[in-house]
Amino acid sequence: MKLIITSHNLGLWAASYICRRWQLAQKKPFVLGLPTGGTVVDMYAALCGLVKNGKMSFQDIVTFNMDEYVGLSSTHEQSYHYYMKHNLFDHVDIRPENAHILDGMTKDPQQECAHYEQAITQAGGIDLFLGGVGRNGHLAFNEPGSAFDSRTRMITLEENTRQANSRFFNNDVSQVPAHALTVGIGTVLDAKELLFLASGETKAQAVARLMQGEITLQWPITALKTHANATLLIDEQAAAALGTDILNKWHALQQAQPEQDLVLSL
Ligand code: GLP
Repeated sequence: MKLIITSHNLGLWAASYICRRWQLAQKKPFVLGLPTGGTVVDMYAALCGLVKNGKMSFQDIVTFNMDEYVGLSSTHEQSYHYYMKHNLFDHVDIRPENAHILDGMTKDPQQECAHYEQAITQAGGIDLFLGGVGRNGHLAFNEPGSAFDSRTRMITLEENTRQANSRFFNNDVSQVPAHALTVGIGTVLDAKELLFLASGETKAQAVARLMQGEITLQWPITALKTHANATLLIDEQAAAALGTDILNKWHALQQAQPEQDLVLSL
């Protein structure tokens, strides 16, 4: 995998990367796996800008979101349905039938998750899976301990994940759902390419695990190392715990060529 430290806005970086991949794609429709969360708000704003300026179109793009809270309807302001509608889908030319999100209100979670896996397969698999990283290293809502071959399923959220996400629920952890539906780590790893983003010092410990630690279920982020074409894009704050050697390299590069990203192969 590649770890890239950049001083550019992560969202702009990721959006132009997605646009390039879409332009170069041999196979259409182009299938994207999509995340939610604070980290990727700028990415969606930049994608909307590209579409508005005629540089990109979602007419031939199919999307699958990573996860959804159990028990939140699509009109709940903290549901990922609502997030996607307001941050992306309302502003681009995607065909409604091409935008897939797990239904957190389903009466039959098992069937909902099985259908989701089938729909991904029917779409020809995911070409590029975008993602964020939880403070505890989770990918989508795959909490520590999730198997690397796990598939789409219902999971129980960790207390620290609910705490972290309570900032979106009036800082009241009791309002954060205890369960979610999420694609599995195996579902993510099946994608042809992965681009994950981490920003801010709250993610520094999880990012540092990639450098220090071995590949372990306790840190789902380390699953990225097992993929043949995965990139983790981070800012300087998320790089803070990477160790002096790398940080010295980064600072030297910043002095010499401030526009340049530091690309590390792990
Ligand atoms: C939630 C999502 C994850 C996301 C994480 C980080 O837990 N289910 O997919 O990566 O939040 O969110 P943020 O970008 O807000 O830090």
